[in-house]
Amino acid sequence: MADYQQEIKRRRTFAIISHPDAGKTTLTEKFLLYGGAITQAGSVKGKKNSRHAVSDWMEIEKQRGISVTSSAMQFEYENFCINILDTPGHQDFSEDTYRTLMAADSAVMVIDASKGVEAQTRKLFKVCVMRDIPIFTFINKMDRDAQSPYDLLDEIEKELGIGTYPMNWPIGSGIDFKGVYDRENQQIITFSGHGNKHEADSTYLPIDTPDLETRLGENLHATLKDDINLLDVAGYDFDLDKVRHGKLSPVFFGSALTNFGVEPFLENFLQLTSSPLARKTADDIVDPFDSAFSAFVFKIQANMNKAHRDRIAFIRICSGKFEKGMDVDHVQSGRKVKLSQPQQLMAESREMIEEAYAGDIIGIFDPGIFSIGDTLCSPGKKVLFEGIPTFAPEIFSLVRQKDTMKRKQFVKGATQIAQEGAIQIFQEINSGMEEIIVGVVGVLQFDVFKHRMENEYNVEIIMNTLPFQFIRWIDNPEIDLKKLSLTSDTKKVQDTKGRYLLLFSNEWSIRWALEHNEGLLLSEFSRG
Ligand code: G4P
Repeated sequence: MADYQQEIKRRRTFAIISHPDAGKTTLTEKFLLYGGAITQAGSVKGKKNSRHAVSDWMEIEKQRGISVTSSAMQFEYENFCINILDTPGHQDFSEDTYRTLMAADSAVMVIDASKGVEAQTRKLFKVCVMRDIPIFTFINKMDRDAQSPYDLLDEIEKELGIGTYPMNWPIGSGIDFKGVYDRENQQIITFSGHGNKHEADSTYLPIDTPDLETRLGENLHATLKDDINLLDVAGYDFDLDKVRHGKLSPVFFGSALTNFGVEPFLENFLQLTSSPLARKTADDIVDPFDSAFSAFVFKIQANMNKAHRDRIAFIRICSGKFEKGMDVDHVQSGRKVKLSQPQQLMAESREMIEEAYAGDIIGIFDPGIFSIGDTLCSPGKKVLFEGIPTFAPEIFSLVRQKDTMKRKQFVKGATQIAQEGAIQIFQEINSGMEEIIVGVVGVLQFDVFKHRMENEYNVEIIMNTLPFQFIRWIDNPEIDLKKLSLTSDTKKVQDTKGRYLLLFSNEWSIRWALEHNEGLLLSEFSRG
């Protein structure tokens, strides 16, 4: 096998999702500690103190303690090269999560054992299911009082519609947490972490250890015996094929904060996931081991760091090997681009890289030509990956600048932020951009927009909420807008590419438009 193929084979690329506070950052930090990527606990997180999360680089994230944008981190563990994609936990940014999941080959879902499946887990999970990727569950915070493991699994199965397979089984929880039973190896991994918040002590005991009852206590020992019997007959069958297709989630119980169960989780995860997956193109499939380079843009971000006022496009490499300075085709524009400043990103620190392989996530300098979903490939290859759909915005505001002298910055800021996919902008038909209509999926995106306009582009803006809730692109190419019969609360606008759209306040008005304009074609997504 060629060298580059060996490199690809050892790669694993996954996204980590959770409801805020379930422990995603803590778990990520433990992974990075294992890989030696960070040396100090707290370098990834610490939202309540001055250190801020490595993966949270925007001011607003620091202020609110939420992760707005997702970032990528790479580390080595044993012989694996792992790319973790962090995702924003807040549902207002679920579109960002969706795009990030497009770049991942599997997902890790972190659930708080006392809370079970929470609102955002549900929403983010739905996004995972759309991609059919393997989903691994880490039920966290077992050192605190937890719900019954049966109820937790039942909830995941019912609420999320996915099968579960407990890889280990908890023995007690909270003050009585004694560890987990590792089903495959039929051994107990003991937990004695109380008193030391950050590192639990563990020993491995075979299930037939003579003094097990004394160690666990009579009650927990008896419960464990019953649980083991029950699990064996309860019909939780392990099926790797189902795992690989996102139909069955291997579940692990542990406690990220006390570093309990994290390493076994990582080990199993690495064994059960596959190397980078093949990717669909418009008319074919690209094999990651193919020697030709191909990649797609899944995220664009400007001004990530005030010290570097530039625009970075994050790409997921889908096949072959990347080398610094290589020339590639940008399929959408038909232009050749030199990828001259490839970077691996660890939030604020950036490391220049010489090479990268299928499965890797890297940041490249964007001279303003890339859009989300664009393909880059070896010259002459003409690969075209399936696009990343844009979510239809549901909340709209009319936005203008306070100081009319700042028009240039206003247009630049709004356009750039829209190109990143963080907001969508629309304008009155045939008007300039004195005023724009901004559409978002979640209201927090407005806060981010306002904050960024002020801090990065130095423009104060005034926003007025509009009553619209639905957007439809008009798919008839030769439409005469003046002839459309619409309810008085429907608004005609155009997007930045000049395509016409209608904004509706309610579904009734959409039906009216369709019923009163024969042949009118409306779609929720922009085509093209
Ligand atoms: P998130 O990224 O999913 O939002 O969660 P994060 O890791 O920030 O964890 C949220 C809170 O839960 C943190 O406490 C963290 O220390 C705690 N936590 C994470 N894993 C465990 C666990 O296994 N057991 C227990 N008991 N707590 C856990 P915090 O008070 O918000 O922050 P801090 O003061 O501890 O830094």
